[in-house]
Amino acid sequence: MSDNKVLIAYYSYSGNTKAIAEKIKEITGGDLFEIKPVNEYPRNYTDVVNQAQKEKEQGYLPELTDKIDISKYETIYIGTPVWWYTFASPVRTFLTENDFTDKTIMPFCTHGGGGASATYTDIEKICPDSDVKVGFTSYENSAKDSEIEKWINALT
Ligand SMILES: Cc1cc2nc3c(=O)[nH]c(=O)nc-3n(C[C@H](O)[C@H](O)[C@H](O)COP(=O)(O)O)c2cc1C
Repeated sequence: MSDNKVLIAYYSYSGNTKAIAEKIKEITGGDLFEIKPVNEYPRNYTDVVNQAQKEKEQGYLPELTDKIDISKYETIYIGTPVWWYTFASPVRTFLTENDFTDKTIMPFCTHGGGGASATYTDIEKICPDSDVKVGFTSYENSAKDSEIEKWINALT
């Protein structure tokens, strides 16, 4: 593994993506950063699903609680649940308000049965000047540590 400074930035609504992010931290020794919206999403499933749909349609950028200087990181893992066939809105904010030029992005996502859908191609669209690697996709948090390690070792 290279000695690049590694960042693992993730958003997780119900914990699945967080679990994968923590495994990646164990494997890489990178810094973990939780992407957190100022206004938390409703806990009611129907409400969050409806809100997320509106936010996707509007390209809404929810304000985040914390900022991080990503300039010192060369490799950045970005984790998200799949929301409406793409990344969650807080991840849209994170990708938009930081400069990923010349960074290597290692995307990963967790989903509820529909797969990654457009998650990775949409990351490529927002970050055209980054090297976006093949993503790691997990059904909820069912991924085995060995699968995550294999993905990381193949690409770094
Ligand atoms: C608002 C919302 C939208 C979702 N949209 C999708 C989807 O389009 N496809 C899919 O397979 N799962 C979808 N899911 C399920 C989540 O992707 C899945 O439960 C994921 O593992 C949650 O990750 P988290 O625990 O890190 O939040 C959605 C869940 C929510 C709350």
